Amino acid sequence: MVDRNGWERGQSVPTGSPREPPEAFVEQANVTDEGIYEAFDEEWPNCWERAADLLSWDRSYGTVLEDDEPPHYRWFTGGRLNAAYNCIDRHLEAGRKTHAAIRWEGKQGERETYTYRDLYVAVNEFAAALRDLGVGQDDVVTLYLPMIPELPIAMLACARIGAPHSVVFAGLSADALAARMDAADSEYLVTCDGYYRRGDAFNQKSKVDNARLALEHDVETVVVDRLGDELPHVLGDGEWDYHDLREEFAGEEVEPVSRDAEDMLFLMYTSGTTGEPKGVVHTTGGYLAHVAWTSHAVLDVEAEDTYWCAADIGWITGHSYIVYGPLALGTTTVMYEGTPDYPDRDRLWEIVDRNAVDVFYTAPTAVRAFMKWGEEYPERHDLSSLRLLGSVGEPINPRAWEWYYEHIGDERCPIVDTWWQTETGAIMVSTLPGVDGMKPGVAGPGLPGIDVQVVDDDGDPVAPGQTGYLTVDRPWPGMARTLYDGDDRFRSEYWEQFSDPDGDDWTYFSGDAASIDEDGYVTVLGRVDDVINVSGRRLSTMEIEGAVTDADGVAEAAVVGRSSETAGTDIYAYVSTENDCDPDDDVRRAIETAVESTIGDIAVPAEIVFTPELPKTRSGKILRRLLEDVANGEELGDTSALRNPEIVGEIQSESGAVD
Ligand code: WTA
Repeated sequence: MVDRNGWERGQSVPTGSPREPPEAFVEQANVTDEGIYEAFDEEWPNCWERAADLLSWDRSYGTVLEDDEPPHYRWFTGGRLNAAYNCIDRHLEAGRKTHAAIRWEGKQGERETYTYRDLYVAVNEFAAALRDLGVGQDDVVTLYLPMIPELPIAMLACARIGAPHSVVFAGLSADALAARMDAADSEYLVTCDGYYRRGDAFNQKSKVDNARLALEHDVETVVVDRLGDELPHVLGDGEWDYHDLREEFAGEEVEPVSRDAEDMLFLMYTSGTTGEPKGVVHTTGGYLAHVAWTSHAVLDVEAEDTYWCAADIGWITGHSYIVYGPLALGTTTVMYEGTPDYPDRDRLWEIVDRNAVDVFYTAPTAVRAFMKWGEEYPERHDLSSLRLLGSVGEPINPRAWEWYYEHIGDERCPIVDTWWQTETGAIMVSTLPGVDGMKPGVAGPGLPGIDVQVVDDDGDPVAPGQTGYLTVDRPWPGMARTLYDGDDRFRSEYWEQFSDPDGDDWTYFSGDAASIDEDGYVTVLGRVDDVINVSGRRLSTMEIEGAVTDADGVAEAAVVGRSSETAGTDIYAYVSTENDCDPDDDVRRAIETAVESTIGDIAVPAEIVFTPELPKTRSGKILRRLLEDVANGEELGDTSALRNPEIVGEIQSESGAVD
């Protein structure tokens, strides 16, 4: 059987012997005890108290894990805490008021530092303003902001008053914003007038205006003035200026609301196997404990560090490892608004150098771009402050791994290749950098207490080196508790495939293919469902297909992923047009516009291939898997079961050769 990413199940994946972590790193690492895996197993689930101990609780929990209603597990029950208190106030109480919390690097070269005291003031004032607008506990506040300090400020202000936030990536479209606000019944929105894209002012507010028109309910909207005179805007009914609100509530303090460990901290929409995005629900105690623990044990973050996760807060990586994890540990977190190549290709290394960054965490797609640009860019700067490097979001190929290790880490810094998902909340698979050897291209073992298994179609563990499905057997604190759209979908998306509810045996299915070697190290191969990973961003082919099909002139469409050197995956759309419509540039533009307006420009296909018909089975189902093989230049199997086998050759010649 060949999965959607062209990996043959049962095929063995070679892995070498581990490379020992550099000694100088190990000497100072947060976790160096080799017995930690065994200790976690023996103490499980109470081992997770070590994670909970990194937090300050208003009331300590009674039970570590309650598992009487699987797969809805509850962690640290009876405990109460506030996430904003944990990320800010307690550091002030520890005398660290003047320590930098956020170092912001703007797109146009602007720089701002927020000390923990500054962050406290901003979050309190904005929390007071939100309350005044009517936000109460458990009201979902949507945040539609680019990478500016007001985004983490708004997240923490919500957390302070017990209102779950739902961050929508700023690059998504008005339709996507409206759909997420509608699904979450969200009546509050924090956004901005616009932001810079490659030096140009880009209007975000007009997208917001369109989204608000599409919604049936009123939306109280706070607008951050990011662009000033460059993009004048007028506030209408129900719209408030962020800076005016801050002034109105200047000096106000808001008591952090004590939340039950199982109360929702945030909601994050992500792509699923169908067109509808899923609202993943994360809670306060388990999530915060898991992100703090993994920031400490895997990313080796210390309070005195300057730490930089170069992701976007609009996705889970930024939530867990720009905002909540590092701030819970009281460290300095760098937040970068721009792109790696503007104004030049050494931009990131200039930031590392100037801020003396200790830990740097990014996605393989970025590493592959750095590699393509060449080592002359990092060589322009002093990167000797770096101690540890991280990778997340997609498999890192061994060549990119080696380049990262040599040219960024100077062979001094261990690399942690961290596998996890929006749904897992925090890192699940990775080496512990002070304990385990590294294998380039291989993520590592399940973390202590995390029971990762690679299984076959029947759910039985595969032999070492064989490929199968990546599953998790025991619950973990940071796991999603449910989907906002309902428990049924939660069960069917993740739990039905490999669980036996009658036997009270619950297994989480990640949607990824993987293999596991003799040392228990996991190589992640990619998705086996309709989710694709484009430049580290998770998109649904079904959702894109829906948008393509909506374009004028399109009869039918199939969207697949094609492996790409830099982006990981490129989006390929195979399209047949309506009878009276020529497949020309107008249709192409209509498709691009349709995708941009329903999802966002990140989902626009790299290639649109017109074909008179799509390949179909006799029962009329589009054979997407075959198209994926065509896109990837794979050998095609027997096509005789097709109703229209003759179309395949035609599509192959239209698709062109794979590079
Ligand atoms: C992929 C991002 C290989 C995987 C944190 C997963 C990875 C999806 C890795 C989740 C890794 C993440 N190696 N693949 N180290 N990390 N993935 O929800 O396919 O945006 O299912 O969370 O990214 O994407 P998501």
